[in-house]
Amino acid sequence: MRPTSPATAALKSSELYAQAKDVRRLAYAPYSHFEVGAALLASDGRVFTGVNVENASYALSLCAERSALAAAIGGGARAFTAIAIAGPQGASVPPCGACRQALAEFGESIAVVFAGDDGELVERPLAALLPHAFGLRRTGEVPR
Ligand code: THU
Repeated sequence: MRPTSPATAALKSSELYAQAKDVRRLAYAPYSHFEVGAALLASDGRVFTGVNVENASYALSLCAERSALAAAIGGGARAFTAIAIAGPQGASVPPCGACRQALAEFGESIAVVFAGDDGELVERPLAALLPHAFGLRRTGEVPR
């Protein structure tokens, strides 16, 4: 990993990842026991965290990334530079497809940070993880 990329210049990727790791302990995952934490860095420097929230009706389970995103939007943030995701020790947890699309709503250049298969941090722009993301903006339907 590059030490400091432009996308995360304000806060090192490793520091954002540390926050994702730290918040994992608050995950509510009694069914999968797969606890996930996410830390989303807003352009104004604030970090919003989230955890996965499972439900007895399994399909209703919410991923950590979208939980962080909901907290951020509710906190008034609209622009983001990076998100870090941390799962159990030794697990590589890149965001699931649904979370990639949810994040793309707010910018395809968001830097996504997660542990690779070898445990080293990986950082990729969202656009690389979700090429050709769907967006009504592209059609001119929704002005921004
Ligand atoms: N999970 C996340 O929180 N983020 C992801 O990107 C992948 C999966 C959660 C959902 C579920 O609670 C558990 O991990 C097992 O899939």
